[in-house]
Amino acid sequence: MAERLTDAIRAVVTAPPRRVTRLLRSRGRVLLLIVPLALLEAALDGALTLSYRFLIDRAIEPADRRALIFILAVLGATVVAAGGLAILRDRLYVRWAARAVSRVRTAIFEAAQHLPVSYHANHSASDVLGRLSGDVAWLDAWLVTAVNTLLLPALSVLVGAGLLVYLLPWELALAAMLVWPLALIGPRVIAPKAGAAVYDQKAREAAALLVAEEALAAQRVVKAYDLAGPVGQRFAAALGLLERASVRAGTLAALVERSTVIGVYTVQIAAVAVASWLAYSRQITLGAFIAFVTVFWSLGWSLVVLARSAPGLVAAAASVRRIDELLAEPPEEPDRAGAIPAPPLARELALDAVTFAYGDRGPVLRGVSLSVPRGAYVAIVGPSGSGKSSVLNLLARFYDPDDGRVLLDGTDVRGYTRASVRAQLGFVFQDSVLFSASVRENIRAGWPAATDADVEAAARAAEIHDTIVRLPNGYDTPVSGGTLSGGQRQRIAIARALVRNPGVLVLDEATAALDPVTERAINETLFRAGRGRTTIAVTHRLAGVVRADHLVVVAGGEVAERGTHDELLARNGVYADMWRRQQGIAVSGDGGSAEVAPQRLSVSPMLAPLSQELGTLASRFVGQRAAAGDVVVRQGEPGDRFYLIVRGTASVTRAGADGVAVEIGRLSDGDEFGEAALLFDAPRNATVTARTDCLFLTLSRADFLALLDRVPEARAHVESIARARNAPSTTVGPASRSA
Ligand SMILES: Nc1ncnc2c1ncn2[C@@H]1O[C@H](COP(=O)(O)OP(=O)(O)OP(=O)(O)O)[C@@H](O)[C@H]1O
Ligand SMILES: [Mg+2]
Repeated sequence: MAERLTDAIRAVVTAPPRRVTRLLRSRGRVLLLIVPLALLEAALDGALTLSYRFLIDRAIEPADRRALIFILAVLGATVVAAGGLAILRDRLYVRWAARAVSRVRTAIFEAAQHLPVSYHANHSASDVLGRLSGDVAWLDAWLVTAVNTLLLPALSVLVGAGLLVYLLPWELALAAMLVWPLALIGPRVIAPKAGAAVYDQKAREAAALLVAEEALAAQRVVKAYDLAGPVGQRFAAALGLLERASVRAGTLAALVERSTVIGVYTVQIAAVAVASWLAYSRQITLGAFIAFVTVFWSLGWSLVVLARSAPGLVAAAASVRRIDELLAEPPEEPDRAGAIPAPPLARELALDAVTFAYGDRGPVLRGVSLSVPRGAYVAIVGPSGSGKSSVLNLLARFYDPDDGRVLLDGTDVRGYTRASVRAQLGFVFQDSVLFSASVRENIRAGWPAATDADVEAAARAAEIHDTIVRLPNGYDTPVSGGTLSGGQRQRIAIARALVRNPGVLVLDEATAALDPVTERAINETLFRAGRGRTTIAVTHRLAGVVRADHLVVVAGGEVAERGTHDELLARNGVYADMWRRQQGIAVSGDGGSAEVAPQRLSVSPMLAPLSQELGTLASRFVGQRAAAGDVVVRQGEPGDRFYLIVRGTASVTRAGADGVAVEIGRLSDGDEFGEAALLFDAPRNATVTARTDCLFLTLSRADFLALLDRVPEARAHVESIARARNAPSTTVGPASRSA
């Protein structure tokens, strides 16, 4: 503890949390009042103890009645004064502390609001929230108790030491001060053991909870296999371990407390022995003896209180540093000097030879040029990870290009203010976040000045008005509470984008997370809402954008092709390939199951040679789901299944030489992986993780080999393809692109 305390103090001294201290110092004049008030309180407290000496030596021993009454009256007045001062001080201080904490919270929130998008891209929201809640709570708790656990005890120690010097010869007073650390020997030895025991207790508690959690989550398995007995035994065993750990942790924690008390008593008794001998041999008066014992006693407890406040101080210091770190983050770059508000889009929005990288990782867009004429519906399509969303990030000026320009009617957008460019765009994202407020407030968030009529018009355009009026409280129904479906929530997000009557509607995979029926309906809505506006739709799912006026195909950070759907199919390039992969997979309306058509399988190199058997092969595919974040196949583990992605996106990662996983590709609708597992019993050579909820169709090796036996002439062909692809790096990977 002592080491951690000195470390914490050193850290604060070498890198003082300037921003937090500035916030605490502002309006800190009241503190100048707190310190003298606390000192007065400590002094009155000391006077109270000292009064025993006068009471005994001046009033009781000489039997002086007037002195007795006078001293008692002074005592009474002192108690009243001390109490009143304490109440006044508490009031002043608590109000200051509450306001100071609010200032820190506001500063964190404001700083977070003005951080650039790149900060949020690299830090989770919980990172900021942790500082706003947990760390501020530590600071708050510490501030609130600081006067009582730090300032007052410290002042009492000072006053007590002064009194000791007054009561005793200075050598004795010094000796009396120096014995106190002896009282803390016990806790210093036991505290680390107690800490370890509490940690162990927490681990055992987590282990017991895990058993319970598994048993509850797997109730169907437990019931189906009649496992209640064994599961109960496992829980009982875990509880037994927890009980033992709790006893040990509790005993040691109590012992820390107890040894402190025993230490204080021991030192106290030794001091009483010395002092009583001094009084006995008439070297000090009886009054001095009593006063000494009382001063010594309260001095001891003040020191104990100080020692006990150390862990809180360490934690609070760490929290203050974390808060300070966030406040020190540079905010979003300000608009250029002389930037003017952008005029409304008149002709076209364009990217001109744009090259862009996130930080110092290589460029994700290279020489991209594209044009979005006013009033057109332009779709940016391409494989997952090809850079589609990055194009939107540049249009919205979340980032600026490293090279090339983003143009609004031919003028570089960097000459315009960010807010005025963003005000022309209405965004709908895949995972549209709604605020925990009413439907009306959520829609109005798109344009705070909107009237109720504007909100309703936007809801009608988003084709959600009829649903809203049927909600229990209509437009005033809160969106939280799970009463709205995913599709309805997305329509509210669309209304939020439309209420600002944006010149340009920007859709980033706006319907990708929805089931096929809802997706189709919302795509229709978006087409209708987009009439008379410019629409830029980004998607990897092609079926929704075949009607676009213009398609831009982005692959590997470059524009690979452009044209209408028909032109692109005729070109037989990247787009046509993606189209063939996504066609021929029929999904049920709710997105729960899927079937693959035989002719779709002829697109997969490993399967194509089984030409006459593709119908049977298609019937052998079975559905499999994965939730966002699930690992579908893991590097190093054996695999015997081939996967076809029906809907969803997944990330392919491989552990590098240093064991750190690196993303080597992304897969989405129509992509395949794990083909080598159809022939070989080899470990997977990459990990595939679902980025969104996914539906797969999978084929097992046994089914594949059984069919392959029926087509002996295909076998050699398939094996040669597998061998060619089985440079180990392609055991897992999209069939069409090596991962
Ligand atoms: N904030 C970021 N920081 C670093 N790299 C990023 C960031 N955002 C995206 N990338 C990387 O940039 C590349 C292009 O990403 P982008 O999101 O533009 O692709 P996308 O085509 O929209 O993909 P998807 O279809 O999966 O949404 C990817 O390799 C991705 O890993
Ligand atoms: Mg994207």
